[in-house]
Amino acid sequence: IQFRNLLRVLVFWATLIVINCTSYNNYAIYKVIPETKNQLEFLKSLHEKFDFWKESRQIGLPSDVMVAPQDQQEFENMLNRNNLQYEVVINNVETIIQKQKVETLLTRSSLGLGDVTFNSFMYYSEQMAYVRRVAEDYPDKASVETIGQSYEGTDILLLKISSGPSETSTPKPMIFIDAGIHCREWIAPPVALYIIQQLVENTTNAALIENVDWAIAPNVNPDGYSYTQTTNRLWRKNRRLAEGDACYGIDLNRNFGYMWMFDGASNYSCDQTYAGPSSFSEPESRAIRDWILPNKDNIKLYLTFHSYGEMILYPWGYAPIYTENADDLQRVGELAAEAIESSSTINSNYTVANSAIFLYPAAGASDDWAVGEAEIKLSYTVELPNGDAPYYFMIPARQILPVVQETFQGVQAFHKYIEEEF
Ligand code: ARG
Ligand code: ZN
Repeated sequence: IQFRNLLRVLVFWATLIVINCTSYNNYAIYKVIPETKNQLEFLKSLHEKFDFWKESRQIGLPSDVMVAPQDQQEFENMLNRNNLQYEVVINNVETIIQKQKVETLLTRSSLGLGDVTFNSFMYYSEQMAYVRRVAEDYPDKASVETIGQSYEGTDILLLKISSGPSETSTPKPMIFIDAGIHCREWIAPPVALYIIQQLVENTTNAALIENVDWAIAPNVNPDGYSYTQTTNRLWRKNRRLAEGDACYGIDLNRNFGYMWMFDGASNYSCDQTYAGPSSFSEPESRAIRDWILPNKDNIKLYLTFHSYGEMILYPWGYAPIYTENADDLQRVGELAAEAIESSSTINSNYTVANSAIFLYPAAGASDDWAVGEAEIKLSYTVELPNGDAPYYFMIPARQILPVVQETFQGVQAFHKYIEEEF
């Protein structure tokens, strides 16, 4: 441990006391498993009031619910009255938040400008410095584009990776990837950065960019991401206060304009799943839309990285309906899942499924829009693992590398299918 890192930890504790950070002291995580339809319905009725980190809409599948200390007695009484089985998995969320932060600070080696690391979580500015540096160092295969600005005015970057134009009359198929829509899901941007590093900087992967182009936006919610690092570790939405609203933040994954607000989204600004005043009301979701639409004919696969749950989910998500190519979606998703699982060092075990049927209906997500509006046939939300123990969003820095490595195996399986099919 370097002296510099110890200093960082001290400064961190000091700022924690001086700045008014949101504390999750004595907040608990309940794992609740519904066993009947009535219990499932009852759990659903709690969605507004509590922060469901993982929502179950299936009998036998657990929900993870965070409950504030002052609500815990009432919450347990309600569960007991409905005979719901539960378990307190974490009794103090703040402890795992602090653990992750301290570990992050201790594992940080000083990053040179434009360097990337998978041993520690990076700041947004560092992530983007890496994206810019890659484009600068490899101008023949990588170029950076500003796809928009966040509400607070930060540039949102996308790296385009291409070994050159197609030699036939058909353009190369493209894979579009974004990460960080939900900013507390810290493991997602490193996954995207690792894909960039492997595709551009690791010459043994040259074949992966020969016949397929890539467009990767590694962190599309910079305001929220910075906010999780300075102020509220568990922030999920963006950071805009819409006119007339009581609370900050729109859930970007409810703001996309396909069957917007159909189900599983809220019109109340203080909710975690607030869909915004209108579809595409947010600059961050518009940035993704406005880049994809002009490129939609080339994009054959849309991947958006979230955490957690070890799931590869496909549309529709707004309602429990299969798309006409559901068999393909299932099969290709399984190829990726198998590739991840067989290389996993943390015992990852993925479920591939239609998201509204397996998980819950939620309209206005980017995956549905990619199919419904941009007509991209293959579209997945990948819910990454939370580590080899229930760390939830607070996956330890030392487990970034295993996750990004195994996920890259899945991405290669997707690539193989795209290359063969198009
Ligand atoms: N956890 C993600 C969310 O709630 C899942 C999204 C799945 N896709 C969907 N269209 N519902 O945003
Ligand atoms: Zn998410």
